[in-house]
Amino acid sequence: MSFPIERPRRLRRNENLRRLVRENRLSVDDLVQPLFVVPGKNIKKEIPSMARQYHLSIDLAAAEAVRIAELGIPAIILFGIPEKKDETGSEAYSENGIIQKAVREIKKAAPDLLVITDVCLCEYTSHGHCGVISGQEILNDPTLELLGKTALSHAAAGADIVAPSDMMDGRIAAIRQALDNNGFSHIAILSYAVKYASAYYGPFRDAAGSAPMFGDRRGYQMDSANGLEALREAELDLEEGADMIMVKPGIAYLDILSNVKREFERVTAIYQVSGEYAMIETAAKAGLVDRKAIIMETLMSFKRAGADFILTYHASEVAGWLKEKK
Ligand code: PBG
Ligand code: ZN
Repeated sequence: MSFPIERPRRLRRNENLRRLVRENRLSVDDLVQPLFVVPGKNIKKEIPSMARQYHLSIDLAAAEAVRIAELGIPAIILFGIPEKKDETGSEAYSENGIIQKAVREIKKAAPDLLVITDVCLCEYTSHGHCGVISGQEILNDPTLELLGKTALSHAAAGADIVAPSDMMDGRIAAIRQALDNNGFSHIAILSYAVKYASAYYGPFRDAAGSAPMFGDRRGYQMDSANGLEALREAELDLEEGADMIMVKPGIAYLDILSNVKREFERVTAIYQVSGEYAMIETAAKAGLVDRKAIIMETLMSFKRAGADFILTYHASEVAGWLKEKK
């Protein structure tokens, strides 16, 4: 059957027809809002590299969490900027670290909102790498213990889901064991299983002050030329006990997301990262693109490629738009 019998345009004639046959939908249920938490009180400071995103002190982060919960967003993910950094990133796993304190306050203010914590050392180490170093070397196995401690301290503070983003080998098993041995077998792991060494993280590293002091992250994060290796990374993390896996960044890795989702049929998230956000914001500000339309089109591309949910800096704004539409 082909033209003139078949005419795909018949189903595109008006919005109700298009609604009726639409394959994918974006809902507030799909969104996770990242928040950056800083020491102090009553601080709300725009992040220079990320227009409309803020450094929030814990009190204001808790208030923002309440607003996010009221919008119907199911989860936030927290990043912390510590008081001080050191060689082993000790504030990452301190009971009174910025994240541990933030989680306690946020869970008090918005008990049902899921709190995901990013588990990594790079925001806390003086050298900005995601692991323990010896000279210029980023050590894998000695890092695992610290990641386990970090995840455990987040769970103890009340985190619902821990999300390791370091890309050390064996970290999911180490974290699972640390949680299970200490009464947290019910806490889920969202693994940044497929995380590429990417220039798209640039604005985040400004926001978190986590750019490495020497070298780069290509010795542990993935090479952007590799696609099959992504399947292996996802498989390893699932074997080690990851409950959910994530692909990162988003827009340049839609093929990877699609392949990982089809291959494993497991809960798979995508992270639309800071550089993607900054590019949209900058192009919109310059009047080059329709801001709202391009945000929605991009988020839909993640759904179409198979994402179960999306970490995006646009989450709360988009939730507002989705509400208006109803
Ligand atoms: C920490 C971490 C990073 C991001 C999420 N967790 C930075 C990095 O790996 O350099 C990036 C998020 C973004 O760019 O929006 N390892
Ligand atoms: Zn890191």
